[in-house]
Amino acid sequence: MKVKRTISLLSAAVAMCCGTALAAPGQPWMNTQLGAAERASLAVKEMTLDEKLKLVFGYFGSDMEAKKYKRPEHAHKQSAGFVYGVPRLGIPNLWEADAGIGVASQAGPDARPATALPSGLNTTATWDLQTAYAGGAMIGAEARGYGFNVMLAGGVNLMREPRNGRNFEYGGEDPLLAGKMVGAQIKGIQSQRVVSTLKHFALNDQETGRTTLNVKIDDQAARMSDLLALQIAKEDGNPGAVMCSYNRVNGVYACESSYLLTEVLKKDWGFKGWVMSDWGGTHSTIPAANAGLDQQSGMPFDLSDYFGPPLKEAVLNGWVPQSRLDDMARRVLHAMFEHGVVDHPVKSEPDKIDFAAHAAVSLKDSQEGMVLLKNSGAVLPLATSVKRVAVIGGYADKGVLAGGGSSLVYPAGGNAVPGMEPKIWPGPVMVYPSSPLKAIQKRLPSAQVSFSDGTDKAAAAKLASESDVVLVFATQWTGEAFDVPNLSLPNKQDELIAAVAAANAKTVVVLETGGPVTMPWLPQVPAVLAAWYPGTSGGEAIASVLFGEVNPSGHLPATFPLSESQLPRPKLDGYPEVLDKRFEVNYHEGAAVGYKWFDLKGLKPLFPFGHGLSYTEFGFSGLSASVKDGVLQASFTVKNAGKRAGKEVAQVYVAPLQAKWEAPKRLAGFQKVDLQPGAQTRASVAVDPRLLAMYHSASKTWRVAKGDYKLILAADAAGEKALSTVVHLEAATYDVNGKPVRQPR
Ligand code: BGC
Repeated sequence: MKVKRTISLLSAAVAMCCGTALAAPGQPWMNTQLGAAERASLAVKEMTLDEKLKLVFGYFGSDMEAKKYKRPEHAHKQSAGFVYGVPRLGIPNLWEADAGIGVASQAGPDARPATALPSGLNTTATWDLQTAYAGGAMIGAEARGYGFNVMLAGGVNLMREPRNGRNFEYGGEDPLLAGKMVGAQIKGIQSQRVVSTLKHFALNDQETGRTTLNVKIDDQAARMSDLLALQIAKEDGNPGAVMCSYNRVNGVYACESSYLLTEVLKKDWGFKGWVMSDWGGTHSTIPAANAGLDQQSGMPFDLSDYFGPPLKEAVLNGWVPQSRLDDMARRVLHAMFEHGVVDHPVKSEPDKIDFAAHAAVSLKDSQEGMVLLKNSGAVLPLATSVKRVAVIGGYADKGVLAGGGSSLVYPAGGNAVPGMEPKIWPGPVMVYPSSPLKAIQKRLPSAQVSFSDGTDKAAAAKLASESDVVLVFATQWTGEAFDVPNLSLPNKQDELIAAVAAANAKTVVVLETGGPVTMPWLPQVPAVLAAWYPGTSGGEAIASVLFGEVNPSGHLPATFPLSESQLPRPKLDGYPEVLDKRFEVNYHEGAAVGYKWFDLKGLKPLFPFGHGLSYTEFGFSGLSASVKDGVLQASFTVKNAGKRAGKEVAQVYVAPLQAKWEAPKRLAGFQKVDLQPGAQTRASVAVDPRLLAMYHSASKTWRVAKGDYKLILAADAAGEKALSTVVHLEAATYDVNGKPVRQPR
């Protein structure tokens, strides 16, 4: 026993030898055999007041001329954040980078070239946990290669507002799908021994007035919608950190809301890591610290260094208890120990990164998440025998669009279309140098493939009329800190598409958008492919799907409305933004978000949640439901009845026949299956009891009402290929985390 102990201590020392920290004798927190909680407590005991204070104070990692601010010397250039560690105790610094789709850089001349995944919405549209995990692992590996150990990733703000400029970073409108997919990505990131955040906590669902608005929602509705997505992502991903958001919730800033931070996150959900503020999201010292904020981030974004000297003073005079500061530091350390940040320190110099392998991860994600929205007359896939192809618009000759803001990844090769407005924050507008036109030309060596940039509508229509098939690329740039005014494609692209489609009936529209857009020209075009923001391998991914080398298998993670009038808020609250104007956004729809709202109101969208076509045909059969050990299971058969291999997303919805929910039905489970032509498989999904229950705020329980429930197996929320069966459920109660509560006999 004794021998074993010595060896483990030795291996802990060896593990530390190559990084910034060297384990000295008498540092029991460096014993890797101990759990993170014990190690964190042991380390905190050794720390001086000033050392603890260091851990809870974060700096912006880039210079900021406007504020005459210089990043700390040890911060990586053009990075998002930096926190001093405690070298004396072997605790490394924290180097933070944004990471929603890859290792991002702040704007400037020293941006690091990195691999960009397609947008978060694209990854969610894959409905494939493995793809999300692989993308996360790619980001984690690249982060480590660049010397970052905290990734500001894990965005899972629910799409209540399709005009939200940041939807592209998130996981769509359904709490189960978004929570699972973002959870898998967080897990992937942390598999590389770096910490990932989960963000933005919570209810930061629009950018307009994000720092001044006050969201009104009741506890029950929040727990069954936005908070449920965060809760599931937290459970599946086990993030080391959570980033609280800019907005106020029921009158209180999220970063000083004891309801959100202490009650929901830490007490109810048992979160053991640390809460960092969004950059500029801290508004006080004593209220914020006592409410549960553990670390101020991104000085100098806030008005004051609240968690600097003012926090020291507050602790010394007892306004913030010493035990609270200990808890703050312990939480940071807990995450660092748990996720390998201490035992596997990052190197200070950039390491080797396998960019070719990472490009393949991004390519696969894009291919898997692209959604074929329409394909009448089987105009797709394109035949390689086609003679004259017109490619129009969308900078398709140069590359593919990316979303703007802090998540922006700078690609190798630079911006393919530099100089577009806005050039500065939240710009630059970035086009990744992966040209769809070139990828198409490569596949058609002897055809005539012509390009028109679409600025001259008449010239584009003329080219279309002289071609056998037309591919129109339409773009919508969205980004952080602003929302789009409406869901129309900007810059008169609707008119361009209509003109081109009028000139040639074989017009395929490829969309590169941040989220849902309206399509007044839809009846005129036979095919539409939603390619989202497809990432640094995007051009190749689009061509591979257009030509059928890859069979599309993405399904919508959000409803595409017919018009803004169908939304819970036809007019975006606070738009256009008036600086510093405080206002309220009333989430009167409660938990009825997305398709749930459309169902509730009997509205028919343009394309329903879950929709996505394939080049093959799938059939469902043999749906059965059973309750095993109190868990509802749905089993079914999926068959590929067509002639090509392909993947189908089987979606299980539940609709109560007697109980009253916020909406007629909910997504209760899903499974993506990969099938050769003619093959079939039996699949089953287990339903999380929270998706069968209503949340009861007073008792903090999820309650399933006794009664009959319709289980629907379908290929989208509108009931495509739907089969159904009815199952009877007994009344049951689950705790706040969905675990069964034993009823007293
Ligand atoms: C964003 C966060 C981001 C942070 C650091 C903020 O503007 O809201 O998502 O992580 O900046 O760049």
